[in-house]
Amino acid sequence: MIIFTQPKAKAVFSFKPYRRLFSAALFLLFSAQSLFADNGHELWLRNKQVNPIKVICNNKSQTAQIAVHELKAGWSGGAGETVNIMIKTDRSLQQDGYKLSPHLIQANTATGALYGVFDFLRRQQTGQELSITSNPSYQRRILDHWDNPDGSIERGYAGNSIFWRKEDSLTVTLDDKKLWLEYARADASIGINGAVLNNVNASPRVLTEPYLKKVKEIADVLRTYGIKTYLSANFASPISLGKLKTADPLDPAVIAWWNNKVKEIYKIIPDFGGFLIKANSEGQPGPQDYKRTHVDGANMFADALKPYGGIVMWRAFVYNANEHDRAKQAYSEFMPFDGQFRSNVIIQVKNGPVDFQPREPFSPLFGALKKTAIMPELQVTKEYLGENIHLVFLASMWEELLKSDTYQQGAGSTVAHCTDGSIYKQQYTAIAGVSNIGLDSNWCGSNFDQANWYAFGRLAWNNQLNSSQIADEWIKLTFAPLTAKDQPAFKKTDWNNNFLTRVKNIMLTSREAAVNYMMPLGLHHLFSAFRHYGPGPWYAPKNVRTDWTPPYYHKAAPDGIGFDRTQSGSGAIQQYHEPLATQFSDLKTCPEIYLLWFHHVSWDFRLKSGATVWEELCHHYQNGVASVRDFQKEWDNLQPYVDQQRFEEVQSKLRKQCHDAQVYKDACLLYFQQYSKLPFPSDLERPIYDLQYLESIDPLTMEKAPVLNRRK
Ligand code: GCU
Repeated sequence: MIIFTQPKAKAVFSFKPYRRLFSAALFLLFSAQSLFADNGHELWLRNKQVNPIKVICNNKSQTAQIAVHELKAGWSGGAGETVNIMIKTDRSLQQDGYKLSPHLIQANTATGALYGVFDFLRRQQTGQELSITSNPSYQRRILDHWDNPDGSIERGYAGNSIFWRKEDSLTVTLDDKKLWLEYARADASIGINGAVLNNVNASPRVLTEPYLKKVKEIADVLRTYGIKTYLSANFASPISLGKLKTADPLDPAVIAWWNNKVKEIYKIIPDFGGFLIKANSEGQPGPQDYKRTHVDGANMFADALKPYGGIVMWRAFVYNANEHDRAKQAYSEFMPFDGQFRSNVIIQVKNGPVDFQPREPFSPLFGALKKTAIMPELQVTKEYLGENIHLVFLASMWEELLKSDTYQQGAGSTVAHCTDGSIYKQQYTAIAGVSNIGLDSNWCGSNFDQANWYAFGRLAWNNQLNSSQIADEWIKLTFAPLTAKDQPAFKKTDWNNNFLTRVKNIMLTSREAAVNYMMPLGLHHLFSAFRHYGPGPWYAPKNVRTDWTPPYYHKAAPDGIGFDRTQSGSGAIQQYHEPLATQFSDLKTCPEIYLLWFHHVSWDFRLKSGATVWEELCHHYQNGVASVRDFQKEWDNLQPYVDQQRFEEVQSKLRKQCHDAQVYKDACLLYFQQYSKLPFPSDLERPIYDLQYLESIDPLTMEKAPVLNRRK
């Protein structure tokens, strides 16, 4: 473990922070790092052997000083060198972009220089090219925190909120500031520049003065690392806070209320980013309550925010119980309004048309909305992918999305290019990830979940990166021995061949493994009720709306399985541009990964392998379980390369993942077998549990499944 000490070289700018509190927090941030060396708290920013250097910087802003400080604190090049941080106008660079060469980091802004410094250090540490120019794919790279004012986090699996807490929730301590600073630093190190501080299911309370004062305190800390602060707003706030009778977006009193609220916010937080709004979705209030439209609602906010440069991120996650195919609704509701939204409105669209499933085709809104700014929403927290238990590296899923071709403007109109401004001109471009961060000492509830935070930031910066490169970087930064002294037992080549290659292989195959043991061949939403963790393909109580039950999605019946979204079914396929609509419609050309998403097929329908759907399902489930068992073995063999704490944490989670994968396989296959009435293929490993047991276990934990042969 290395104790960090300030490099001895004389700095051109001594680090004299402007504010006393900030100074104290920054001191704590850098001096206390080594205390956390083994618990994952340092993320991919672990301290390393630092060589003293001289840094010359032509800018005195606080963020530029932080850039200087970071460079000195992380320099792993030669000792005694001089590096220049130059902030000057360069038209080839965007606002946050930078140019690197071995002794120069050049940017238009201090924040750009900070990103340049972090990239430079990453390249030094991971052995990448040092002379590059880099501009971000999206202007706004935002984490959405689904944090509630009482400190709980919706779909959060890493402890309570780092921003809010129940008791005495509005006081701010030095420890809070230190944590926010660490958070901001981690975000900035991967290029994230925005944070929505509260849940999309927004409590109006957050817009009251006492909360706004706390938001200011948070914003003051985050700003130093270039992070803008945003809030989710509850559409009905004028009623609950303003005591108005209505929240109708065309009502002058409502408009005036929002205008005043926005004015108040900007007085407190002059660089406030804007609002995120979930309206008319899952019971949240919205313009449709007053027979108004998404345009009426979004534009009202946009007009209020415009004078201050704020934006509205208006979510397209809408569906209601009456629509016979939930996957169609966002497209049906938003397409008629293309071109009518203000330029500071961005429609925030989840990656797939349903809801962050292990695999979905891309949302047909991507590329289809041509005159409306649109931003992808990804879920970093693994609500539907094993929470903080299962090892699932999400970069593969996001890469699949971003590289999907929408064909909206001919071949090559990928989701990435339809959203980053390269195909459609948007005044603002953005991407959001639903955060997986909480108070747990390792931030994310598990070590490998940190890789998903990392991957989100990296892809938001460069939407053309591939998951292999991201995994490579993350493993090196997170696990490589810091000094030869730390791990004397092996050489670097051993580490590369044995650890790096094998962990990368686990990460890169982990998402497909999860799809296989959870819901292969296009199946989706087979989860148990409420908490989307364990399997519940049978769950369908009479008093629950059908689109919240798995049978609505899998449609297993004696005649077959899958959701018919062809023209003879719901017609959702028609929302895709040609040649996709034809390709998806035809059973011969529909990609098998989406087969049961788009088609209802008989149990004996033959796939390309020659096997029937039933047989293929069985094999996919089996392969999923087998992959996780392999991960488990691999990890155990890697023990010499990892510190004990992180080794054991991953090991115990893999154990549970293996158990859960088995439960998934048994539950789904035994349940579907009731309809297929077909035997298991002869080579299929037989179920361990029986269906009756599985239907009765606690769906939240899957822990209470009785172990066979247990004696009383
Ligand atoms: C999912 C999730 C909810 C969340 C919603 C949303 O349905 O389960 O907790 O509120 O998505 O994105 O708004």
